[in-house]
Amino acid sequence: MEKSDFSVLPSHIGIIMDGNGRWAKKRGLERSKGHIEGAKTFRKIGEYAGNLGISHISFYAFSTENWARPQNEVDAIMQLFYEYLEEARERLDENLEKGIRLRFLGDRAALSPELQYMMDYIEDATKEMSKVNLNIAVNYGGQQEILHSVKKIAQRVRSGELSPDEISLDDISAGLYTSDQPPVDLVIRPSGEQRLSNFLLWQSAYAEFWYSDVLWPDFTTDDLDKALLAYEKRNRRFGGI
Ligand code: FPP
Repeated sequence: MEKSDFSVLPSHIGIIMDGNGRWAKKRGLERSKGHIEGAKTFRKIGEYAGNLGISHISFYAFSTENWARPQNEVDAIMQLFYEYLEEARERLDENLEKGIRLRFLGDRAALSPELQYMMDYIEDATKEMSKVNLNIAVNYGGQQEILHSVKKIAQRVRSGELSPDEISLDDISAGLYTSDQPPVDLVIRPSGEQRLSNFLLWQSAYAEFWYSDVLWPDFTTDDLDKALLAYEKRNRRFGGI
């Protein structure tokens, strides 16, 4: 579909890319094959959402809890992420022409130096762009993100810059990875699971949720259309009447 087909589009969508493992299992393949297909879907959906005019798109690629997976699976996901970063560097001109700003949410200190270098490079190279803000959450946890913000505030309190009574919601928001981005309007989770799994907790306080049984590698642009059409029908009250 096109932008004009929707009466209202969310400013920020969060997508939990779930179901890669089950997709592979159903076909008798290794789980990593599911992630390979999932990475293709990520590219396709990210591009489509950006072309539709959704200005902020956040993908959950790897959570702080995902380290508990077998090492070969963790390695496979990190490898796919690295390949994507290399591709983003190779296609930098194309990305800049489309106004794509790429950012990474999460604690990158635990990632390999090569990955960290590429992440810093891509973020810096695209930092002047604003049309499409693509966020990829890697080693991300929503509770950890809030804790990190609160620690920064505690330091300001200790230094006397801020009194405890003055601490505001904005102070907490300002310490998040998404500090200058709008809150999440719509969370999309395929694969039949209906939970947030520590993804953008603070940012999703008033988000609408859309679930689907489709496994992420099978997720199509038509599925995204369905989520967006459902979203425009929701009556958003923000706690009012
Ligand atoms: C969840 O499915 C998926 C992940 C934990 C990894 C997602 C990673 C990618 C799509 C590829 C790498 C990312 C980029 C940005 C190129 P699951 O494995 O939990 O599926 P299951 O619930 O069926 O086991």
